[in-house]
Amino acid sequence: MTSANSPRTLLGGLTPAQFLSQHWQKSPLLIRGALPGFVSPLEPDDLAGLACEEGIEARLVEEHGPDKAWQVSHGPFDEETFSRLPVSGWSLLVQAVDHYVPEVAELLEAFDFIPRWRLDDIMVSYAPPGGSVGAHVDQYDVFLLQASGRRRWQLGGTPGNDARLIPGIDLRILEDFTVEADQDWVLEPGDMLYLPPGVAHHGISDADDCLTFSIGFRAPSSDEVVTSFADYIGEQLGDSQRYGDSDLQPPAAIGELDDQAIARVRALLLDAIDRPEQMAQWFGRAMTQPKYLDQLIPPESPSDPNDLRAALESGSELAHSLGSRFAWRRLDDAQATLFADGDAIVCDLELAQYLSANPRLDAKVLEFPGSESLLAALVDSGSLSVPEEDDQ
Ligand code: SIN
Ligand code: CO
Repeated sequence: MTSANSPRTLLGGLTPAQFLSQHWQKSPLLIRGALPGFVSPLEPDDLAGLACEEGIEARLVEEHGPDKAWQVSHGPFDEETFSRLPVSGWSLLVQAVDHYVPEVAELLEAFDFIPRWRLDDIMVSYAPPGGSVGAHVDQYDVFLLQASGRRRWQLGGTPGNDARLIPGIDLRILEDFTVEADQDWVLEPGDMLYLPPGVAHHGISDADDCLTFSIGFRAPSSDEVVTSFADYIGEQLGDSQRYGDSDLQPPAAIGELDDQAIARVRALLLDAIDRPEQMAQWFGRAMTQPKYLDQLIPPESPSDPNDLRAALESGSELAHSLGSRFAWRRLDDAQATLFADGDAIVCDLELAQYLSANPRLDAKVLEFPGSESLLAALVDSGSLSVPEEDDQ
């Protein structure tokens, strides 16, 4: 526990516990030299290349677009799009770059003080000098890591849900944005800014090759929680469980929904949802749903657990597929439910812990009971695969 909670350069010298209690979901933190000497694993041209690929979520924001101000277009783009762009006034944003570039995914290891199932993705943006996506508010926690070039960040307090937005454009840009005192910084490569949800911010490219990595976290809305859990639990409640009123008294008025009726339906609802273990089973599935369902690529033929064992024993490795989500929930002292990309499998407790915490797996994983068959199931669902550099 001590090393997990020792001061981190990444957090400006705070321990993870201090960062979480003072800043997480509460207040911004500017961290100079969060990753000292950081060299971007990605060039602007690489980002443009990703934005031209089918199936990759990419957006182009043009302050003075061909059709309107603050025009947003969606990829895939082509050479022609990039060649018509002006020298300034635009940004290219590519979502989930950690799903495509292993060196970008490796950055996530430094964020081990936040449960991995809270992660959304690493979005990477490029903007020529002066480019921005306007002043806005996000609903999510984000670490904005300056990867190359410089970006000026300005913060404008917490405008609340009823803040006025510029009407008639594709983006939710704040109409009124006033920079707060001492909340105006130019970030250099390796500097990082943490923002909790709800803080108004404006990031303007200040130098060529401005690449910013947004390590973004997600939190389901109450609406999503209620709807998704209701769907899950609804499937398990039989048709015969119904509103009952065996205590019915002659009503004072035939059309009235009286307090007793409301108390009965309330009891039915509370009884249906107050099931912590079913809630855990649903939450694990929900929070490990892949960001892009079609990115799980199962192998053409089912894996043989014995072949997997032999391969690992002779030095091969397996790895979490890029973008795969793992979590686990203890069932008892020996067993757990492992959640992987929305599926649930009961397995050995220590195996579930080990698999979730180690994105790369070698023969050591075979020491846990039941590992071969679990590995085979995870390879067959596409959650585990042979790491890219080993895949000839
Ligand atoms: C950007 O990288 O251009 C925008 C990121 C953000 O403001 O959330
Ligand atoms: Co933002």
